[in-house]
Parts: sequence; structure tokens; C-alpha cells
Amino acid sequence: MKNILVTGGAGFIGSNFVHYLLAKYPDYRIVAYDKLTYAGRLENLKPAEGDPRFAFVRGDIADRAAVDAAIRQHQIDTLVNFAAETHVDRSILSSEPFVTNNVAGVTTLLEAAREFKLERFHHISTDEVYGQIPEPKRSREGDPFETRSPYSASKAAAEHFVFAYFVTYGVPVTITRGSNNIGPYHYPEKAVPLFTTNAIDNEPLPVYGDGRQMRDYQYVGDHCEGIDAVLHRGQLGEAYNIATGVETYNIDMARQILDILGKPHSLIKFVPDRAGHDRRYALDVSKAKALGWESRHTFSQALEQTVRWYVDNEWWWRPIKSGEFRAYYEKQYGARLAAAK
Ligand code: NAD
Ligand code: DAU
Repeated sequence: MKNILVTGGAGFIGSNFVHYLLAKYPDYRIVAYDKLTYAGRLENLKPAEGDPRFAFVRGDIADRAAVDAAIRQHQIDTLVNFAAETHVDRSILSSEPFVTNNVAGVTTLLEAAREFKLERFHHISTDEVYGQIPEPKRSREGDPFETRSPYSASKAAAEHFVFAYFVTYGVPVTITRGSNNIGPYHYPEKAVPLFTTNAIDNEPLPVYGDGRQMRDYQYVGDHCEGIDAVLHRGQLGEAYNIATGVETYNIDMARQILDILGKPHSLIKFVPDRAGHDRRYALDVSKAKALGWESRHTFSQALEQTVRWYVDNEWWWRPIKSGEFRAYYEKQYGARLAAAK
């Protein structure tokens, strides 16, 4: 393993993974391959600019000729796929791009992996494939998929194809299923960066429903380490959960952000809920721990570090929030905030 194609490498976790690999493995060459949708941003890759071990290719994972050209040109032996439409709320507005990118795009990559006989095809999946989990249960890797949103349905479909290519064609695959990530370069449509940047500007924090949904918020660097552990020490054909194993209520996450910033809790507004909102995700992470990996940040440490990054990096998020995002925000939150309690 030395020439790695990181698809979706200009997005939130993909770009953090690129920086992680460059810092940890001096012998690896990393190619970020990304279509640059609204969520893919070249600014996220700025720290890698000028590094001779790094290259960027603009391309679509569903474009077989472009994928083949990148693999050939850079003599790729390993592919790590982050590329996807990732926002649950957008999948409720329209599921079509989720099918095209998250399902058809992945099958295109698998065909390329098969033809080029790549050493490894690692696929990034999500805890959302298990659906909502009642307390005190924790999802284990063998549990059934019970997806409820168009986004999670598309991620589950992709996983089925990844596994099918392992069984049918012997493509050497591994899969990781991560919980909610937080950290630098997180597009501010997602709850933690949205709440943080709204709070900085004294704008309301739109908490869905009663705010008592639970998520396992992990620091993105810990997730990258988990992916690395599976990439280097995981069993072919296996999936691994990656999370802290500790869940937090959304309302507590919102209050902690306000406390870190010294802002009043009155900025919290309870708005009408997300359709089909999953109440709780919770993962059993013993399989990944058996590889010698462990999450290193507590929720409070991860949140503190994340909020500080947004305070220190307005250059990154202010232009995003004043662009296409404004129309999206109005569509998603205009009526909701008007109905807020
Ligand atoms: P993101 O939305 O920040 O980034 C996705 C990237 O994929 C963008 O750069 C986008 O331009 C690119 N992309 C989309 N469609 C593409 C296509 N057809 N061809 C090439 N590039 C394309 O997402 P993220 O939060 O970094 O998530 C990355 C991966 O991790 C996704 O597969 C997601 O399902 C998974 N995941 C995310 C989380 C989380 O909390 N963010 C948790 C678990 C799993
Ligand atoms: O669990 C892993 C998943 O985490 C990833 O697979 C997804 O790609 C990623 O987007 C994330 O999905 P969520 O739906 O959990 O993340 P989001 O940040 O959108 O929402 C987190 C929680 O906060 C969720 O319970 C919904 C709630 N929420 C979200 C937004 C955007 C609010 O209460 N208000 C909001 O405005």
C-alpha cells in the first residue's frame, strides 16, 4: 500500500484523512479525487498544497473513464471512498443525488477496483445503516440494516454492493461504520458547525423536536485513526464500527456549545422535527478496539476543540454561509424558525 486514492477527499472527513495520512506515512503518495459539490472545498486541502506526495484530481466517482485515468496516472493500489451526498435533511428534500452518487457511484468505483486489481477498496459507511436503536442496546457489526432516511438507505445499498463484490469477484474490501464526526472543515449545514457559527453570530440554534435525540459525537481525528487501523490491520470482507461508545442528547450538545462561547441558552429554539428523525444511534466498538484502536477524545474535549476551530477560522466558514447556503437555510429553516418555541 503506497499510492492511495482518497475519493471525496475535499470534503470534511476526507480532507482530514488526507492530512492525517500525509503526516503519519512519509512514504505514501495521496491523491484526493473529488467532484467538488457544494460540500467539497479546495480550501480544506490547503495544508497539503505544495507537498510533492500530494495531488488533487477533480472528478466524479460515477465517471468510469475519469476514475480509470486517475488510477492509471497515479499508479493507485489502494482506494478509500468517502465520496457521498451526506446530509440527511437534503436527502429528505430530494433523494435522487443520493442514489446517483452514493449507490451508482460506488458500483462504478468497485468495477474499477476489480479491473485494476487494487490491493484494497476501503469504504466509509455510517452508524445510520442500523437505524434507530432503543436503549440500552448497542449495534454490533452483524446486526441487520433497518434504514429509515433516503440518506441511510443509500449508504446501506452501497454497503451491500461492496460486500457483493468481495464475495462474487474477490475484490479485497473493508468497511468502517462511523458515528457523527465533529472537527475542522465540517460544512455548516450539520448540527455542530451550524449551531457553533450561529451562536458566534447571536443567531438562533434550531434544535429539532424535543432535542432528546442521542448521537455519539466523535472527534474526526479519532475516526481517521480508526479507519487507518482497519485499513492496515482489518480483516478483508469485514465491517468495523468506529465511535466513542458514549451518546449525548442534542439539547446538551447545543447548551455546551453556548457555554463554551459564553452565549445565553435563550438562543436555543425548538423547531418542528426532521421527518423520520432517528432517536438514537449507539455502537458497540469492541471489534475495532481488538485491532488496538481506541477513541482518544471525550465528547467535551472534541466539542471544545471544534468550537475553538470555528472561532479561529472565520475565513473558512463565513464565505460558505453567505453563498448558496443562504437559500438552503431559508428553505430548511425559514418556516420552522417562524414556528419555533
Ligand atoms: P462531506 O459532505 O463533507 O464530503 C463529501 C465529499 O464527497 C465532498 O467533497 C463532495 O464534493 C464529494 N462527492 C460527492 N459526490 C461525489 C462524486 N459523485 N464524485 C466525487 N466526489 C463526490 O461529507 P463527510 O461528512 O466528510 O462524509 C464523508 C463520508 O463519511 C461519507 O461517505 C459519509 O456517508 C460518511 N460518514 C460521515 C459521517 C459524519 O459524521 N460526517 C459519519 C459517518 C460516516
Ligand atoms: O451518524 C453518522 C451520520 O452523522 C453521518 O452518516 C451523516 O453523514 C452525518 O450528516 C450525520 O448525520 P446526522 O443526521 O446525525 O447529523 P446532523 O448534524 O444533521 O444532525 C445531528 C443531530 O442534530 C440529529 O439528531 C439532527 C439534529 N439537528 C440537526 C440539524 C442540522 C437539529 O436538531 N437541528 C439542526 O438544525
